[in-house]
Amino acid sequence: MVTAATAHPAFAKAAKYLDIEHVRVPVAADGRADAAAMADAIDHRTGLLVGSAPCYPFGVIDPIEELAATAAERGVLFHTDACLGGWLLPWWERLGEPVPPWDFRVPGVTSLSADIHKYGYSFKGASVVAYRSRDLLRRQHFWYDDWPGGLYASGTTAGTRPAPPIAGAWAAVKHLGGDGYMRQTAIVRETSLRVRGGIEAIGGIAASGDLNLPIMEIRAALSGSRGPDVEMAGVGDVMDSRGWNLDRQQGGLHLMRSPYHARIADVFLADLADAVATHRASTSAATYGGIAGARPDPDGRVERR
Ligand SMILES: Cc1ncc(COP(=O)(O)O)c(C=O)c1O
Repeated sequence: MVTAATAHPAFAKAAKYLDIEHVRVPVAADGRADAAAMADAIDHRTGLLVGSAPCYPFGVIDPIEELAATAAERGVLFHTDACLGGWLLPWWERLGEPVPPWDFRVPGVTSLSADIHKYGYSFKGASVVAYRSRDLLRRQHFWYDDWPGGLYASGTTAGTRPAPPIAGAWAAVKHLGGDGYMRQTAIVRETSLRVRGGIEAIGGIAASGDLNLPIMEIRAALSGSRGPDVEMAGVGDVMDSRGWNLDRQQGGLHLMRSPYHARIADVFLADLADAVATHRASTSAATYGGIAGARPDPDGRVERR
């Protein structure tokens, strides 16, 4: 399996569980998968190439068309990880934003994932994996009758699954419908633009990403030969003390806008401006998701907020 270094750790986890060799390829300077380097990483044992739309750390969309074309040419499956963009990009495009092709309109894409609990606005526990062909879908199904209990059939990796998240996802999608998703996406877009503009206006920091997408890394901007002026771990600490909870990344702080943020964008930007102004040094480590907001206290215990 060949992925960019920015692919979600879920791929590394699957590789570990399934004992698959995971080749991670460094990304280009803009944070996108390097299509040429990914092509070079394919050999006769490669079964799957992966691209993200967009990737979690930087909010940029990999060159899916190029990657999928290479995969098709080399007879390799291609998965678009649209966990973040799957329920956002279709409406982003309809709002008139330029969105590079990432879905089954791209010939080489053989599967894609799209999390309903992100911009689908459902709660966690149900997600979507879609396959280009019934043949690929069938390979996910497990049928078994070599025991005394009759035919066992299971469609997902987890066997017995709770129905409420599935019903919740169905309800969210039915309730919002195409128009509802357009409305929510318009709010997210407006908020994302406001926050991006606000971040640039503060000075000393910059937001990663493109297409004005609402997923970004806030980084220290480079100031000439002196390098960055702002110490981002310190900024994260100040934001913590004001009740915000920004995931620490290796290169900055992670931010993902939802419709709710429309109401709090101004106070967030004001706090961020204050935090940047303090430039405080800190020892916070990079953390993702679940343990973000947990940090060691001076006695080495983990304090959870
Ligand atoms: C871009 C991306 N891909 C994949 C995943 C799926 O990860 P998991 O299977 O661990 O929930 C996530 C989860 O947040 C994600 O953000």
